[in-house]
Amino acid sequence: MNPFKYGQVVFDKDFCHRPGLEEKLKDLVASGQNILLEGERRIGKTSLIYEIIRQSKNLHLLYIDIMEIKTVDDFCRRIIKAIISMEQKAGVVEKIFKAMAHLKPTLTIDPLTGTPSLSLDASVKLKPDSIEGLLDFINSERKRKKWVVVFDEFQDILNLEDASVILATLRSKIQFHTDIPYIFAGSVRNKMDEIFNHPDSPFFKSAITFNLGELDRAVFGEFLQEKFRQGKRTVTPQLLDKIFEIAQDVSGDVQQLCGAVWEGTSYGDNITGDIIPAALEVIYSRELKGYEAAFAQLTGQQLRCLAGLARVGGKNLLSAEFLKVSGITQPSSVKKALQRLEQLKIIYEYKKEYKFINPFFRSWLIYKNF
Ligand SMILES: Nc1ncnc2c1ncn2[C@@H]1O[C@H](COP(=O)(O)OP(=O)(O)OP(=O)(O)O)[C@@H](O)[C@H]1O
Ligand SMILES: [Mg+2]
Repeated sequence: MNPFKYGQVVFDKDFCHRPGLEEKLKDLVASGQNILLEGERRIGKTSLIYEIIRQSKNLHLLYIDIMEIKTVDDFCRRIIKAIISMEQKAGVVEKIFKAMAHLKPTLTIDPLTGTPSLSLDASVKLKPDSIEGLLDFINSERKRKKWVVVFDEFQDILNLEDASVILATLRSKIQFHTDIPYIFAGSVRNKMDEIFNHPDSPFFKSAITFNLGELDRAVFGEFLQEKFRQGKRTVTPQLLDKIFEIAQDVSGDVQQLCGAVWEGTSYGDNITGDIIPAALEVIYSRELKGYEAAFAQLTGQQLRCLAGLARVGGKNLLSAEFLKVSGITQPSSVKKALQRLEQLKIIYEYKKEYKFINPFFRSWLIYKNF
């Protein structure tokens, strides 16, 4: 069985440790501190949260993923769903049922297991004051259960039409929940900064910030080696270096490429860097439709800009050198193309450097000689 896992939350034996950081976060959570966890896509934010809660005794995770929320109603329903999915005990479900009576819930009992569950009337539209009610409920339950409340992909709160009102409402409640740790995780760092580092924002400086970077190559390398070893394969350090480089040290992409390498090998193999092209072919063939769909949305100029970025990297893109590489005449055209590529979620910018969200799309462009 392929031991490499990607595209899912990993914890316990599948989790490569982040020495120092896990202890620090556990201490902060134990003391009820609010935490902001930033980091790029697939770097390991959600997994880290699950792992530290797993390691902490008697803590319960109230995990609320708000990715792509569009309305306050949607936001409230995600919170309710998280609460309900945590609580299976009959007495507690009934308590929630009563607390949410105004939302017209329906209580059903699974005939096989006897487990109670709640569903909400879709025609009831939840409003901002429902948020206050939900947070009050969480707070009122804190003595019975030690929760850690996680809002994942928190930057998407800015999708809401009245985001600033909602943020103010959240903050006004959360600041009094001094013994409940809240973790806000997000991958779009400039938006998270807007929420937590802008003096006008209700959340200004309201949480301790952690910028989750890549896993240490030596530690992650040993973790990956061990996975290969368990399947009686050995890998050279050069191969791992190449994998880190192509996957740009993004944890999930490193695991994906290791998984593809694994597929092309068998028991007893000593795997070297020569296998990389074949492993990449496997990934490209699976992702090709996505690349083509991205392509179909681009103009010639945007494509030239993207190909240039793939070849020379994402720094100083308004320089004469980049204009030459990309064959674009005006810096303003590069700027426009970058904006569009960012909007299409093909690239992102952080600390004045542009990078591909999917590093394999980058290596495919180079491979295809665009
Ligand atoms: N500590 C780790 N040890 C091993 N693999 C990891 C670790 N952290 C992340 N990964 C790899 O990265 C993948 C994505 O992890 P996770 O979903 O936690 O990232 P994320 O930062 O929450 O991503 P997203 O922003 O897309 O939600 C995992 O499936 C796994 O392959
Ligand atoms: Mg995540």
